[in-house]
Amino acid sequence: MTDHFRFTVAATDGVARTGEIRMPRGVIRTPAFMPVGTAGTVKAMYPEQVKALGADVVLGNTYHLMLRPGAERMARLGGLHAFMQWPYPILTDSGGFQVMSLSGLRKLDERGVTFRSHIDGTAHELTPERSIEIQGLLGADIQMQLDECVRLPAEREAIARAMQLSLRWAERCRAAFGEQPGRALFGIVQGGDVPALRAESARALVGLDLKGYAIGGLAVGEPQATMLAMIEATEPHLPVTKPRYLMGVGTPDDIVQAVSRGIDMFDCVMPTRAGRHGMVYTRFGRMNLRNARFAEDNTPLDPESACPAAHLYTKAYLHHLVRAGEILGMMLLTWNNLSYYQDLMAGLRRAIAAGRLQDFIGETREGWARAER
Ligand code: GUN
Repeated sequence: MTDHFRFTVAATDGVARTGEIRMPRGVIRTPAFMPVGTAGTVKAMYPEQVKALGADVVLGNTYHLMLRPGAERMARLGGLHAFMQWPYPILTDSGGFQVMSLSGLRKLDERGVTFRSHIDGTAHELTPERSIEIQGLLGADIQMQLDECVRLPAEREAIARAMQLSLRWAERCRAAFGEQPGRALFGIVQGGDVPALRAESARALVGLDLKGYAIGGLAVGEPQATMLAMIEATEPHLPVTKPRYLMGVGTPDDIVQAVSRGIDMFDCVMPTRAGRHGMVYTRFGRMNLRNARFAEDNTPLDPESACPAAHLYTKAYLHHLVRAGEILGMMLLTWNNLSYYQDLMAGLRRAIAAGRLQDFIGETREGWARAER
């Protein structure tokens, strides 16, 4: 069979799995963390640095790229991979979620969503068909269906309506996507904080026989326990043979908890955004380097890390760069944070392969407790 998108599970530990997704542009080792490259750049990082840290895939955003530089222009320029010098797999989000969080004056109906650009106020429309067309023009290897995500808390009625609309949009996206060997379309499970709606959404999407399934509408302000309960309500309805992607998650603890509940892929702005605001993630927990207690701390973030940002520079220097608003501070902190996230994913993959995931999670959490004071 000449299907150029293949997910294989190499080992399991409970419902957790480690494996790989093979695609023409490369292999994605799972569980995978995808750095966010919203506007054609993982902010403050060179693409080759991102790859060297062990990232196999980055995320791009339909919403941002359709507005600037524009999807048709991107296609004329040879597509996003060539444009940003990232020849490896790219996953693009479909745009709906970003329309809701970023744009002004939006209107959503059965057809799609119309909105005004947050950059220049111009009017735009995003339908399921146009979202897939744009993701194709960008050249995305993994494309996401257009969906509607409701903010929690919300009435069951509103959650159910958005979930049903998302299912109808999934069918339209599938029809628009057609058959594209080597590229994949993922569906997105919605259903808010209602387990029965999550199950219904998952079962209906699985009926569309997509290449992978995402869980959306989480990490939108609900407690971690709710998020984990929604993963548990969804996971049994998803086929073990397809990758599962938890969108927009999360903290290192969210990630290890979700991996142990069967999730294979993650994306989140946390390591990159936090790095631009003085926050670091390490084996010893999260630290705010703006804090005065680091002003004369002559130790590195992690002497055992392979990342120069973590083992070479002192906390006192990083504190100084952050306080002075220096660009290098943002670069080094982002580098450290993505390095930590990728190391964590590698640790999770090894632990699952060795059948010691729960021990690994216990040890990892003990490490984090050291900096949390
Ligand atoms: N990113 C984080 N959550 C979501 C979601 O529910 N839908 C989409 N499309 N993207 C997301």
